[in-house]
Amino acid sequence: MDTLLEVRDLTKVFRVKKGLFRREPFYALRGISLNVRKGEILGVVGESGSGKTTLGKIVLRLERPTSGKVLFEGRDVFSMGKEYTRKVSVVFQDPRNSLNPRMRVREIVEEPLLVHGEDRREHKVMEAISRVMLDPELADRKPDDLSGGQRQRVAIARAIVLRPRLIVADEPTASLDVSVREEILKLFKSLKEEGISFIFITHDMRVIEKIADRVAVIYGGRLMEIGEKGDVLRSPLHPYTRFLLSNVPVRHPRERRETGVEEIEYDIPEEGCPFAPRCPEYREECSSRVRRSELDGRVVYCNLY
Ligand SMILES: Nc1ncnc2c1ncn2[C@@H]1O[C@H](COP(=O)(O)OP(=O)(O)OP(=O)(O)O)[C@@H](O)[C@H]1O
Ligand SMILES: [Mg+2]
Repeated sequence: MDTLLEVRDLTKVFRVKKGLFRREPFYALRGISLNVRKGEILGVVGESGSGKTTLGKIVLRLERPTSGKVLFEGRDVFSMGKEYTRKVSVVFQDPRNSLNPRMRVREIVEEPLLVHGEDRREHKVMEAISRVMLDPELADRKPDDLSGGQRQRVAIARAIVLRPRLIVADEPTASLDVSVREEILKLFKSLKEEGISFIFITHDMRVIEKIADRVAVIYGGRLMEIGEKGDVLRSPLHPYTRFLLSNVPVRHPRERRETGVEEIEYDIPEEGCPFAPRCPEYREECSSRVRRSELDGRVVYCNLY
């Protein structure tokens, strides 16, 4: 399948304050490489702080990488002009924060059209609103007068109004009730059927199971493994992936898989595998280096392979 977006060896270092005068480097991403294919939903999963949002922000050009590249159809996105924002859009977790409370729904959806000097805006706005199955009667309301699910539909209408090729969705269902979540996931899937690709960020393996075609597992700013969803969920290669899957709530405690991973906060080491201090399969070399292997179309960064 064709590659739409390529993330190549991406590293992001923040300077974080330590004490009054000192600043220390903090690696939010370390050497991440992955592809998004045309027409797929790439799920990105990992615990809080693993670097998911940072990755999404760099793809959206909201942050600059410290090193590494993002290529859209082979072009460096940081050398592209405004046309990039036409091709790549975003849906954030909480529409309460991402939608301007003073604007009406129709104005919110229209804004990207104005930015790009589009004509026939009224028609395009109503088309997007009906595409996300939002009642057109709501077009004159403000975000505060909508339900959480309706608000997220507005955010999605805004994200699709310019007919983008890729949407970065960062925990877009995390603030929604379970029943509404299902509806919104269905909507994302139907948009994928129309050819839009997604980077779908979540900490929830159950959401990955429902929505993703492939899945990238990240931890401590590093890629742990990436592959077809079915393969990764059925036979996780990385001990960290197994740990994540073992934490998915199951119907009966008997179904819970034992992983031997202790759930305490660990400092992520700068060298080697970030999961090393928690890993039940730890061996000495994990403290200093990690092997990259390709197995049946899957890529895994782990010294077990
Ligand atoms: N502007 C910043 N300055 C300093 N550190 C930052 C900054 N932005 C993010 N970080 C740190 O980088 C790490 C990764 O953050 P990020 O928001 O990408 O994680 P995440 O996987 O999206 O987590 P969550 O699931 O909680 O949203 C965290 O430790 C975070 O504190
Ligand atoms: Mg995040």
